[in-house]
Amino acid sequence: MISPILTVPASGPASNGSLAAALEGGAVLMFPDLDFPFSDFERRFTERPFADGKAKNVNIRGEAATLRGAAGTPEEQEALRQLLVRYRAFSKDLIARHLPEYASGISLAGTSYRPFDVDRRKMSWRRDDTRLHVDAFPSNPIGEKRILRVFRNINPSGQPRLWRVGEDFGSMADKFLPKLPGYSALSARLLAALRITKARRSEYDHLMLHLHDALKQDADYQAGAPQADVEFLPGQTWVTFSDLVMHGAMGGRYMLEQTAYLPVSAQADPDKSPQRILARKLGRPLQ
Ligand SMILES: [Fe+2]
Repeated sequence: MISPILTVPASGPASNGSLAAALEGGAVLMFPDLDFPFSDFERRFTERPFADGKAKNVNIRGEAATLRGAAGTPEEQEALRQLLVRYRAFSKDLIARHLPEYASGISLAGTSYRPFDVDRRKMSWRRDDTRLHVDAFPSNPIGEKRILRVFRNINPSGQPRLWRVGEDFGSMADKFLPKLPGYSALSARLLAALRITKARRSEYDHLMLHLHDALKQDADYQAGAPQADVEFLPGQTWVTFSDLVMHGAMGGRYMLEQTAYLPVSAQADPDKSPQRILARKLGRPLQ
């Protein structure tokens, strides 16, 4: 029985240490009652998508928080940018309050506005996020970092965000690791030299990309693997390590998302990272 959701009231649990431990063990922390109010002007962002439709999402990145993929008047786009800047600060506060042991090591990356429904049509299997997967970024090697994500359902009409969550990472890796192609340090250097990747792809990045693809391509696994349906209601915020927790997004529209990177060494227990789990399964350090 898979029951990964751990509900955390705004007042916080009795012991903060247990939240990081739960998260690192594969839990999804769900905060039912955190405030993130919208102004009257901002309500329009949940009434229709302010997106140019070219990318899946609208996002800001970096210190400058330049807005990409948005649509609307200059005033509307600036308001949407400010909303995302505010959500980034909200996510930072959440981490500082509920995961204080991460506060010094974590770095916040992109912040996104996701106004569109999950698209089940015209999607290649690789980009189909309804299939159970762990996150891996082809052009952006992660190396010794973890991917922590803070999501919030901002749907105005009561529509939940639907996910399914799969089995634990180690059990999944036992099934797929033997099937993956070997790592080539030479081709990793070549990809970086050609600037296909932004940095050298480590063996960990190689394994995670191939796991991501092998999982999504395996229809029997998708249908038959241990999994549970979960839903997140409007106003709920949830936090998880998306490189560890097997997930698929099955439905819902209007969501905010913050990505953060945490060094493995900054975890409460680095041995629970996918990096160390994979190294243990292979019986040697990763290259
Ligand atoms: Fe994902």
